[in-house]
Amino acid sequence: MKKDLLSLYDLDRADFDTVFEKARELKRIQREGKTYTPLMGKTLGMIFDKSSTRTRISFEVGIYQLGGMALFLSNRDTQLGRGEDLSDTARIMSRYLDAVVIRTYSQKFVEEFARYATIPVINGLTDLQHPCQILSDLFTIIEQRGSYEMIKVAYIGDGNNVANSWVDAAARLPFQLVFACPEGHEPDADILSRGMKEAKGGIRVYRDPREAAQSADVIYTDVWTSMGQEGQREERKKVFAGYQVNEKLLARARADVIVMHCLPAHRGEEITDDVIDGPHSVVLDQAENRLHVQKAIMSILI
Ligand code: CP
Ligand code: NVA
Repeated sequence: MKKDLLSLYDLDRADFDTVFEKARELKRIQREGKTYTPLMGKTLGMIFDKSSTRTRISFEVGIYQLGGMALFLSNRDTQLGRGEDLSDTARIMSRYLDAVVIRTYSQKFVEEFARYATIPVINGLTDLQHPCQILSDLFTIIEQRGSYEMIKVAYIGDGNNVANSWVDAAARLPFQLVFACPEGHEPDADILSRGMKEAKGGIRVYRDPREAAQSADVIYTDVWTSMGQEGQREERKKVFAGYQVNEKLLARARADVIVMHCLPAHRGEEITDDVIDGPHSVVLDQAENRLHVQKAIMSILI
């Protein structure tokens, strides 16, 4: 695996499988109540410019469980927030830390940071990508279905960071990925065209959520208004009104469909209460698996 985890496009199939295998092992160790501390004495820096519940907690708890410690560095409290040069920051932090996870707006920032850093840099979400999320989601799919091979994932809603990372995963692994997005809200054009050329199981974009959901093994959704887009919320609610994951849409999918959402959810918007709390939903396992997969990522990269 490369030094950094910035986008799933940088991984090959063997890298994905290595992460899933390690996550399975770490989850088992955790379940058995055993201690496993290969990262004793290691420190993870966590630069967060955006809010987070799952990503922050799973990385922070994850490194403690592996024997290391975390340093939470909000932009407000470091000199980076006062304009210290990115290359200086990356090089200096590399002298103290053993890895860094960054959650911010610009993908370029994370890439630039990784260019100067001599330690692994992990993308904890940008406006463009959310690679750790989709790695963990694929792990959940393997747990639920035995494999990601040949399954059909239907992503309903906004072609955002989470959707883009799904496209990158489909460029590398043999599963079928379909989207239902309103016009102008498809995944990033460059990522999508690259993904469509390289996808092993195919990628299609529909307008009609019912077409996308047809015989799906997985129905996936995310918020209509991502962090940083709060000013567009009312407008987006109108644009995405027909893209709700509800019982009626679920009826189109396979009888044993699983429903996934990276969370946080806006209940009553992109997903109804009865679906997110219903028998097909795996959102809690999905959230828990962030911990096991993040621990796998750290133990592989550090
Ligand atoms: N899914 C996810 O990344 O959640 P947080 O924003 O709470 O980290
Ligand atoms: N698309 C969402 C994902 C949150 C985990 C956002 O960027 O806000």
